[in-house]
Amino acid sequence: MSLIYRRRANQPSFTYVINDYMGEIKPFAKRIDNKLLILPLLILKTIEWSIYRWYKTPIRRFYGVKGNELIYMITKRCNERCAKCGIWKNPEPENEHIDISIFINCLKTLHENLYQVTLTGGEPLLFLNDVLKIADESRKYEIQLITVTNGVLITEDFLKKYAELDHILVISIDTLEKDKWIDFRGKNSYEKVMENINLSKKILGKNLQIQSVLADESISDIPQIKAFSKELEIKHVTQPYMDFGGVWNNVKTKNEKTNGFACAARKNICIYPNGDVVKCFDHHKIPLAKEPLGNISKEDIIQILCKKRSTEVSKIMKTCNFSCKQLSCNVPEIIYN
Ligand SMILES: C[S@@+](CC[C@H](N)C(=O)[O-])C[C@H]1O[C@@H](n2cnc3c(N)ncnc32)[C@H](O)[C@@H]1O
Ligand code: SF4
Ligand code: SF4
Repeated sequence: MSLIYRRRANQPSFTYVINDYMGEIKPFAKRIDNKLLILPLLILKTIEWSIYRWYKTPIRRFYGVKGNELIYMITKRCNERCAKCGIWKNPEPENEHIDISIFINCLKTLHENLYQVTLTGGEPLLFLNDVLKIADESRKYEIQLITVTNGVLITEDFLKKYAELDHILVISIDTLEKDKWIDFRGKNSYEKVMENINLSKKILGKNLQIQSVLADESISDIPQIKAFSKELEIKHVTQPYMDFGGVWNNVKTKNEKTNGFACAARKNICIYPNGDVVKCFDHHKIPLAKEPLGNISKEDIIQILCKKRSTEVSKIMKTCNFSCKQLSCNVPEIIYN
């Protein structure tokens, strides 16, 4: 199987090459402040892209200045029991949860390459103090932090500290109907989350966003959530239902797997609660990436990213075409900004 992927990576279609090129050049161009430098830097970037595109290289390569996103699944533990998601069914035991200092070291090492750190889970706010430590460290390096939460454990004190650091909080909701809520979430948390959305809006302002999952089960609820978000002037984002071990069904759309855009997962450096490093959380679909690339509690993150297999996996990702490429973390644009 890996041979098939390699062959595809070396013989991409014309559309893929164009999308791949644009996917790198556009965000790179946006980061150039000095207009006089745009042309020379784009030429250099194009040369770099061409070298990497057509020649195998074992050396470490990052995608321009601050081109990477560090995504930390801080825990698989969760206080909710969502039907759409199966992550809560496999909480990590205590000995498979790295100390926050290990992640902070990784962040320090990588900071020059990062434009964003994203915290997901499980429920990140089960580790509220650790989230604040990461928020603080990210601010020191002027890196945007996005924390994605189910909204239950938010406190006023947390919001005030988080607001001072000017980071983004994303609250996930898939219905506004009280009766459906318990079926969706497995817990009777409707009132608490609604109260916390209002409080978050008051304290975070434009740094609060709402995210919903589009599935057969939630499709009729999305317009209402969009209208609600609009009324409160909160940005709303939808992402398609994927197999996270849940029991929902995805909405059938035509050409679901062939939307023509290259997956942008290569910008991502993903860390599991035990410190394992992968390039996307769907890496098990790529035979060469079934095993993690390394573990930040045992090796330096740079050494892990310099491995030949890391480079090979990135190359395979250039033409990877599973539906998971549509997840917000795998699209080229920084959708949260
Ligand atoms: C896995 S959750 C972890 C963070 C937090 N517990 C929450 O629910 O927001 C991260 C995001 O993935 C979304 N999500 C959950 N199950 C999903 C699925 N099956 N397909 C796509 N997105 C999903 C959640 O709605 C949330 O916005
Ligand atoms: S979607 Fe989030 S809140 Fe729901 S079970 Fe999964 S991790 Fe927990
Ligand atoms: S399509 Fe899916 S498996 Fe392939 S690189 Fe993107 S996120 Fe990973």
